[in-house]
Amino acid sequence: MLARGLAKHFRDVRAVDGVDFAVAPNECVGFLGPNGAGKTTLMRLIYSALRKTAGELSVFGLTPMQQRKQINAGVGVVFQENNLDEDLNAAECLLIHALYCGLSFRTARRRAAELLEWMALSPKARSTIRTLSGGMVRRLMIARALLHSPRLLILDEPTTGLDPQVRHTIWAALRELKRQGMTILLTTHYMEEAQQLSDRVLIMDRGRIILSGPPNELIGQHLERYVLQASGLTEVPAATDGIRHERAGDADCFYSNAEPLLQALYDRLPTRSAVLRHANLEDVFLKFTGRGLHE
Ligand SMILES: Nc1ncnc2c1ncn2[C@@H]1O[C@H](COP(=O)(O)OP(=O)(O)OP(=O)(O)O)[C@@H](O)[C@H]1O
Ligand SMILES: [Mg+2]
Repeated sequence: MLARGLAKHFRDVRAVDGVDFAVAPNECVGFLGPNGAGKTTLMRLIYSALRKTAGELSVFGLTPMQQRKQINAGVGVVFQENNLDEDLNAAECLLIHALYCGLSFRTARRRAAELLEWMALSPKARSTIRTLSGGMVRRLMIARALLHSPRLLILDEPTTGLDPQVRHTIWAALRELKRQGMTILLTTHYMEEAQQLSDRVLIMDRGRIILSGPPNELIGQHLERYVLQASGLTEVPAATDGIRHERAGDADCFYSNAEPLLQALYDRLPTRSAVLRHANLEDVFLKFTGRGLHE
């Protein structure tokens, strides 16, 4: 997949404002960015739900919109919003979608059963979607996206609102798909999700890609190794050599490559609501997208 100067404007909103990136087969790329950054719009351009305003985009060497059918034969999409028909049961939902994708009735039935089983939903095959939990609905949406055996899977916030256990189950499933050779594009607000699954992340802000690279490289390049994060400090300790201080909302962050320096600072803090930890992708995200709200 290749994008060059790709843009999508809605009247005066530059939802995607000239992005360049490439995705190699079997890569898992995470798209991060604050609300309204343009992640969903970008995904929709890739699966031909929107027409680009400017620039170039090719998917499997084909042109979205013009060659929408050929492209979407190889693309599975898990939408940000649940759009399943609540009145169907889980098995019917998959069967109907598989037939819609052009599978024969026999293949459709087989794939539906296989994917229900794989997503641990077989016991719920006859349950109406309305009665399923949020985690089950999400797993069903992933199963639905895989019915036609796509080679590219697009997931728009696959685990938003789900409990940690379901989230881990979904991550395990995505890792298995990746092992089988699937190319995965994923948008998320969960930095841990991005860090766990992505070979590379692209951080977007206001329609542009402001940073990209493998999560660990980004952390190593842009931050000190350790962070002491404290909340509720009434007085910030005097500056110490080798420690950088930043205020983040109501929290104070102290960064350093020397853990003992932060440990000493930790011991001096009047508050116990402080943690000393490794710098992570969330710190990079906040550093580059600003700590305040844009909207
Ligand atoms: N169909 C549309 N018509 C007009 N404006 C739109 C449309 N779709 C998106 N936008 C605007 O484009 C910008 C990018 O929206 P988009 O949904 O792509 O962001 P996002 O990064 O997916 O955000 P979130 O994290 O909240 O899902 C926003 O300002 C949004 O209001
Ligand atoms: Mg979105």
